[in-house]
Order: sequence, then C-alpha cells, then structure tokens
Amino acid sequence: MSYSIDLSGRVAFVTGASSGLGAQFARTLSRAGAAVVLASRRVEKLKDLRARIEAEGGDAHVLELDVTSIDSIRAAVAHAETEVGSIDILVNNSGVSTTQRIQDVTEEDYDFIFDTNVKGAFFVAQEVGKRMLARARGAAPGTYTGGRIINIASMAGLKVLPQIGAYAMSKAAVVQMTKAMALEWGRFGINVNAICPGYIDTEINHHHWQTEQGQKLVQMLPRKRVGSPEDLDALIVLLASSQSHFINGAVIAADDGFGV
Ligand SMILES: NC(=O)c1ccc[n+]([C@@H]2O[C@H](COP(=O)([O-])OP(=O)(O)OC[C@H]3O[C@@H](n4cnc5c(N)ncnc54)[C@H](OP(=O)(O)O)[C@@H]3O)[C@@H](O)[C@H]2O)c1
Repeated sequence: MSYSIDLSGRVAFVTGASSGLGAQFARTLSRAGAAVVLASRRVEKLKDLRARIEAEGGDAHVLELDVTSIDSIRAAVAHAETEVGSIDILVNNSGVSTTQRIQDVTEEDYDFIFDTNVKGAFFVAQEVGKRMLARARGAAPGTYTGGRIINIASMAGLKVLPQIGAYAMSKAAVVQMTKAMALEWGRFGINVNAICPGYIDTEINHHHWQTEQGQKLVQMLPRKRVGSPEDLDALIVLLASSQSHFINGAVIAADDGFGV
C-alpha cells in the first residue's frame, strides 16, 4: 500500500515560475496532476519551462506578470481564469532580495523589496482570494473545491540575519499576512499557509555560495549544507492538496534546522 496525493483537475497559479523555487514548484504540482499557470516577467524562461512540463505530459500555460503592478496582477489572474479555469491553488512565490547593512539601505532598495515581496504578494493573494471567496459563496460559476494559498516567506521572516534586514522585514510581513488571510478566509474553505525556506541554491543567491563569505555561512549551518529546490517538493504538494484541509495559518520552516 502507498500514500499518494492527486491534484488532477486542479489549476495552480505559480508566480515567479521562471527560475529557482517557483520553477520547481510548478514542475512538482504538474507531476502531481495539476494544470499549472506559469507567471512572471521573463516570458522566454516561462516558455522553456512550459516545454519541459509538456514534454513530461503536463498541462502548462504562460502568462506575463509583474507583481509590482496591480493592473498586471488583475489582468494575469483574469486571463488565467478565463483561459485555464478557476484557480484552486496559488503559490505566491515571486520575491527579490538585496544585501547591505541597515545604514546603507536606500529608499530605492527599500521600495524594490517591499513593492515585490509585500505589496506584490498581498495584491496577488487578494486578487486570487477574492475569486475563491466569490466561488465559495456560490456567486460565481464553477464547482468549488476549496482554495489553497501558499505564501513563500523565508526563514529570514522569523530569524533576523545580518545584511538582509530589509528583506527580513518584508518576509516577516508575509508571515503576518498569511495569518491575517487564514483568519478571515478559513471559514470559506480557503487555507492560507506560509513556507519559510532556509538557504536553497537558486538564482537569488547562487553567486553567494561561490564566495568566501558564502562558504563561511555554509559552515555555520547546522548540517553545513545548502538545500536544493526539490527539497520542498513534498511540502508544496501537501499544502496544495485537499489532504491539508486541517492546516490553516501555519508558518512552516523548511530550513534544515537553521531556525531552531
Ligand atoms: N533561495 C532561497 O534560499 C530562499 C530562501 C527563503 C525564501 N526564498 C524565497 O523564495 C522565493 C523564490 O526565490 P528563488 O530563490 O527561487 O529566487 P529566484 O530564482 O531569483 O526567483 C525569484 C522569482 O521571482 C520573480 N520575480 C521577481 N520580481 C518579480 C516581479 N516584479 N513580478 C513577477 N515576478 C517577479 C522572478 O521572475 P521574473 O524575473 O521572470 O519576473 C523569479 O522567477 C522568493 O520569494 C524568495 O524570497 C528563497
């Protein structure tokens, strides 16, 4: 006997699917049976991913999305629902980071991080959430199966680390946003949870692991290793599935024990 999770018939909307964690989340949800909408600014990268997913027999769609623009968010979500179907699963993953001491953070750095990680994530979740709410209330057509919103926060949202103070502040906001949405939307069958990954080797930090400072950081980690995007596969599938109906407002660290 084996345990399996099947997402067939579900539509998953993944922001920041052009690289790193988002690309892997999309591939994994597709392998679990979901139709996936790949959304971000670098459309050529999304098309490459769509080709890889289709080669595996999956159903993938590409949409241009800039989460710093509310118009772009509204257009992309509307387009996804018209072209692919009601969004059942949102992976709210787009994010950016900068590295500098607190005293060196400029207004430009601050806006760059907060416009994407906080304002962008909020309005993407709000736009998708509004549609899930409408379906839950029976006001919109479609068979409602419950919504799943998975916000990608960070271990830095729970534990402050040097030189990424503004990023840590932005991810702490994502943690509280997750709880606020879970509280208001839970009774409509919409589960909102956050994953707080530890260090995972992706475009956002790949260059860092080659530097002396990066190597020193790895030595400080409990198991002296950095993760790879596949390390979150099981968690994303669980949180996207109906089997996670009793998990709402959870902030789940997947950081190899760094936060303890
Ligand atoms: N890697 C880690 O160690 C780690 C740890 C904790 C949390 N995280 C979080 O995980 C998420 C994914 O990061 P990653 O490591 O996979 O980094 P990544 O490879 O740099 O991916 C970031 C993604 O965000 C998208 N993005 C950035 N600005 C955007 C915008 N304005 N509109 C739409 N999409 C935008 C990018 O797509 P386009 O450039 O195509 O728009 C890209 O696909 C982020 O929220 C990050 O903070 C990562």
